[in-house]
Amino acid sequence: MNKIAEISSTLMAYLKRPDLYPELRRKIWKNLFNRSSALRGKAEAEQWCRAVATSEQDFIKNVLKIDFVPFEKLFPVELGAALHAQHNAKVKMGGAGSLNVIYYLTEYVNAHTSVETGVAYGWSSFAALASLVKRNGMLYSSDMPYILQNQSEDYVGCVIPKSYRIHWNLYRFADKESLPKIFEKIHAVDVVHYDSDKTYDGRMWAYKLLWEKLRSGGAFMSDDIGDNAAFKDFCTQNNLQPHVIEFDGKYAGVIFKD
Ligand SMILES: C[S@@+](CC[C@H](N)C(=O)[O-])C[C@H]1O[C@@H](n2cnc3c(N)ncnc32)[C@H](O)[C@@H]1O
Repeated sequence: MNKIAEISSTLMAYLKRPDLYPELRRKIWKNLFNRSSALRGKAEAEQWCRAVATSEQDFIKNVLKIDFVPFEKLFPVELGAALHAQHNAKVKMGGAGSLNVIYYLTEYVNAHTSVETGVAYGWSSFAALASLVKRNGMLYSSDMPYILQNQSEDYVGCVIPKSYRIHWNLYRFADKESLPKIFEKIHAVDVVHYDSDKTYDGRMWAYKLLWEKLRSGGAFMSDDIGDNAAFKDFCTQNNLQPHVIEFDGKYAGVIFKD
């Protein structure tokens, strides 16, 4: 699809979805006046991540002090079904976060309530729920549909085991609409996982809100923190000491509150 055709298809798809008009307005503004937001500070962020990063396994063993057994060894049956569901999906969606780190963080803080942004096939949701269901907990997720893929909404969360889904509450809007709706329902969160709008400004808006709602002792995780300097700047501005974890050639950041 050439650029003009892509822009007009995107516009038409948005026009059919009044619930997504606020995001359409923001996208137009961003494309006209704020195009640098996606990669702002990328070089310095990557350099910092490279310098301080640890592996998933070392983070789980040395920081969380939990014996590391890979997620796939803990949930082989559920994982097999999930891979099958992804294979059968008719749309292509975004890649998975670190299942090991999400699962063990949720265990570590003994979470009952988690919030995540960005679901796609639902790998991160699967990992969070694998822990939450043990405590009858609940995962609140925010996910914006892939506007150009007609059937995408049918496959959002398709890898999440069916028995986990009563513990899952999905808000199908952009974060700027979903998160305020989620925080009308809950007032404090045990674990946050951020994996949606990767622009600098999108992250800064959401990080602030999510951090405020995180309970003392809770864990905050963000994916792809080497894409721009938002996570690094957020930590510096708030005097926070993050852990940086490398997996699949990308970096995730984790901060504990207090
Ligand atoms: C990388 S994928 C998430 C992958 C998922 N966490 C996993 O581990 O399988 C990013 C998702 O964020 C969604 N997204 C992008 N921008 C968003 C926004 N502003 N608000 C809510 N969701 C958004 C995309 O539609 C996509 O489903």
